[in-house]
Amino acid sequence: MATVVADPLAPWREEFPLAKHATHMIAHSLGAMPRRARTRVAEYLDQWDARGIRSWQDAWWMLPLEVGDVLGSVIGAPQGSVTMHPNVTIAQAIVLSAIDFSGKRNRLVCTELDFPSMLYLYEGLADRGARVVRVPSADGLTMDAARIVEAIDEQTAIVAISGVIFKSAALVDLGPVIARARAVGAPVLVDAYQWVGTVPLDVTALGVDYLAGGSVKYLCGGPGAGFLYVRPDLLPTVKPRLTGWIAHPEPFGFDPGPMRYRDDGLRMLNGTPQIPCLYAARAGYEIVSEVGVPAIRAKSMRLTARIVAFAQAEGWTVNSPVEGARRGGSVSLGVPEPERVHRELDRRDVLCDWRPGVGVRLGPHFYNNDDDVERALGEMKDIVDGMRGR
Ligand SMILES: Cc1ncc(COP(=O)(O)O)c(C=O)c1O
Repeated sequence: MATVVADPLAPWREEFPLAKHATHMIAHSLGAMPRRARTRVAEYLDQWDARGIRSWQDAWWMLPLEVGDVLGSVIGAPQGSVTMHPNVTIAQAIVLSAIDFSGKRNRLVCTELDFPSMLYLYEGLADRGARVVRVPSADGLTMDAARIVEAIDEQTAIVAISGVIFKSAALVDLGPVIARARAVGAPVLVDAYQWVGTVPLDVTALGVDYLAGGSVKYLCGGPGAGFLYVRPDLLPTVKPRLTGWIAHPEPFGFDPGPMRYRDDGLRMLNGTPQIPCLYAARAGYEIVSEVGVPAIRAKSMRLTARIVAFAQAEGWTVNSPVEGARRGGSVSLGVPEPERVHRELDRRDVLCDWRPGVGVRLGPHFYNNDDDVERALGEMKDIVDGMRGR
């Protein structure tokens, strides 16, 4: 007889209509839309319609900080330390624009497994004097903290690395990296996109200087909302060169410069914020905060362990850490012809994706149930066996 597992998060499935219409296994790429997003976006339209220009003072001017505070409650960030930006690439570009690479301390330490958008951004900093050091991975899937620690020295201007590797969901042990960076006086900027909303994170306990993430994945907040945490004691000293009038203490003075910065988090902004996206994102943040990341993690560990066990029994390569404690919310499976397998899964209404070198990625979330996982694995087995002529 199959064991029935009590699932305290089961009622949340109702909030995500798509989870009932398709087998939604793609929270690592685009989390399902919560009903509340529709309500929040309708509030935005009502506000704009009823109050027009007065919406800025009513509700919109401080929204990048207010929504940042909602997200901050998910990652242990003090009030006022998180601001909202269009995406992670821009959030990181803002931080990096404040770093001086013109002197001897000009090394930017990153890793070859960071998300390519970040690597392109780092590469471009060479024109500003940055010496970009890409730490290699031993196996193309995981990043050993000791290798990063070794690459950090007194000439390091900043360490910019992923906390969870996008291809494999491997967690990076950031403690020693942050300790080493601190010892040589270099700040650390973490890309936490594959982390926030599925694995517990406390930025204060971690002691990280800057941390960026986005909303489309485990936060179920939709596109157009990246966030940036800046350590509160660091904030008043940061002067992004990528800046604008929203960061100025008197934006309606239309002072032609030189630029002066606000004292609060809005100093990290630049031009007019993406207000509608912030309404949508807030819905996802509220829900993740209500569900609680520790509960999400417990369920994710159970569902992803089942995926790993099934894959091992089938002889598929598991291109993610097998040990749950070292893995984030998704599992990458090295089946033959992953692109074709993915296309057929999509045709069968199993939503997932694939990545070169690691295969098909399955990312369940708190709105999934055991049947979703069994269905996704069953369809995948049928497709793979069919290709092998079994
Ligand atoms: C680790 C990681 N960083 C960054 C991104 C994307 O960043 P952006 O918000 O700039 O599109 C992704 C995925 O889309 C990711 O997995």
